[in-house]
Amino acid sequence: MARILITSALPYINGVKHLGNLAGSMLPADVYARAMRLLGHEVLYICATDEHGTPAELAAADAGMEVSSYCDKMHDAQWQAGADFKMSYDYFGRSSTQSNHELTQHFAHMLEKNDLLEERVSEQIYSNADGRFLPDRYVEGICPNCGEDGARGDQCDACGKLLDPADLIEPYSAVSGSKDVEIRETNHLYLKQSDMADRLRAWIDKAEGWPNLAKSIAYKWLDEGLHDRAITRDMKWGIPVAYKGVARPGFEDKVFYVWFDAPIEYIAATKDWAEANDVAKDRDWQSWWRTDKGADDVTYVEFMGKDNVAFHTLSFPTTLIGSGEPWKLVDRLKAFNWVTWYGGKFSTSQKRGVFMDQALDLAPSDYWRWHLTANAPEGSDAGFTFEDFAARVNSDLANVLGNFVNRITKYCVGKFDGKVPSGGKWGEPEDKLVEELAARLPRLIGYYETMEFRKAAAETRAIWATGNEYLTEAAPWSQYKTDIDQAAIGVRIGLNLVALFGILAQPIVPDAAEKILDAMNIPTDKRTWNFGKGDWKEQVKAILDALPHGLEISAPDVLFAKIEDADVEEWKQRFRGHD
Ligand code: 2FM
Ligand code: ZN
Repeated sequence: MARILITSALPYINGVKHLGNLAGSMLPADVYARAMRLLGHEVLYICATDEHGTPAELAAADAGMEVSSYCDKMHDAQWQAGADFKMSYDYFGRSSTQSNHELTQHFAHMLEKNDLLEERVSEQIYSNADGRFLPDRYVEGICPNCGEDGARGDQCDACGKLLDPADLIEPYSAVSGSKDVEIRETNHLYLKQSDMADRLRAWIDKAEGWPNLAKSIAYKWLDEGLHDRAITRDMKWGIPVAYKGVARPGFEDKVFYVWFDAPIEYIAATKDWAEANDVAKDRDWQSWWRTDKGADDVTYVEFMGKDNVAFHTLSFPTTLIGSGEPWKLVDRLKAFNWVTWYGGKFSTSQKRGVFMDQALDLAPSDYWRWHLTANAPEGSDAGFTFEDFAARVNSDLANVLGNFVNRITKYCVGKFDGKVPSGGKWGEPEDKLVEELAARLPRLIGYYETMEFRKAAAETRAIWATGNEYLTEAAPWSQYKTDIDQAAIGVRIGLNLVALFGILAQPIVPDAAEKILDAMNIPTDKRTWNFGKGDWKEQVKAILDALPHGLEISAPDVLFAKIEDADVEEWKQRFRGHD
């Protein structure tokens, strides 16, 4: 049994996230966490809201609220959206907590001690109309890289390039729209990432289990030459640039940059989790994060979209390694491409695309979880359309899984009194089934272990299809006319397949899995992936006769209602967005 620490990129506080965000960090992290728990590992899955920086201040201003009240409200909304999507977080924290303040200030202090911070005069955009500096998203303009208008000071959405506000062409204030801006000098603390480049490269060279996407992005940054980055901002909302309650002279009106404190919240949230849960001393937050306190046996897995990779492979490790303290570094980093919306982008401002809270008015969370996992943006961007969504749900969930469960459980209730029947002779269809499952089950587990989610979903579906093929061949309904005893084996194996399908479906479609396992009367402590090391064929044979003969089962209500063409048409119109 391993100890696995899982984090998914912290969603910005500025609104409930869209399905693309969900598919590229929280959902796969949750699916992975569930699978690893089922395999018996000790899992800690941490997420939180990312509450600082310009996204928080601007969104609060838009909503006409104080930033702190806005964050309170949106934290609850995001927590709820996660709960509705069945995110199995062990803890969903907030980056604005006291513990993150303390830890962030601690790291800055250690970096300074180790000569990795430097106070430098920097040139920032100042807005005369707004009477303030315009850091990051406070300023917009033309992207110097791709020429698109509307690029934000921290990043161009069109080409993905990370920017410095001073790079923008024809900059204007995102608050007032004023072009009356000038460059002014202001002091900031710089993290000397360039001094760490060799150590980072050596660490990345050694890293195993990072999918290509993550490694190639990290190398690209290193090859281009790592720049030192300012980790403070001229803003009010955020973590004060102070240590043990005393502000750094000249930094009284500044705070740490959101990307400095956000990843530290992974650790702070773990601390808050431990406090909230009264965990045992040998399992406290330090046992997950400090290699001198037991974390050397932890495997740390991070999930994120590709735009977050540089921060997690370069900046955050600089903070951790640069502190000179024995902090746990990421072991496996799973990065995702984008989900596109009818070939374009999801857009909050243009109301294009479905957001987590709206999605559940259209269809249950299992439907989205299944579709977004089966089409995870792993190798490349993944296009979302309602047509594909409906086709996948109707064929995989309703036709393959739903019908199978429905057909055999109803038949058992109708003809065998709703009890797992004994009797019948093992024959060729059963041998074939064992062969097939003995090859597929270890493959499925392997896909979860290597975090290949599309393949895991495809293998799950293939296992369901194998069950359907078996039933067609064993045909208990035809057997029943001449040989009830022989019909019994088909029904019994069919019911055991239902139970297996429910067990295997848990990471991706937990609600349907629960209904299936309840209907099959499987006790909760028997719902694990307790596969042994022995011969798979023997294990499969045992799985196919696991339900006690005579056990009473029931037929669950319709598991998956089909999505109609009319729904697709209506949804397409509703979520088309505007220009
Ligand atoms: O890109 C984003 O949405 C960021 N809020 C992710 C932060 S991840 C972590 F470092 F906190
Ligand atoms: Zn650009």
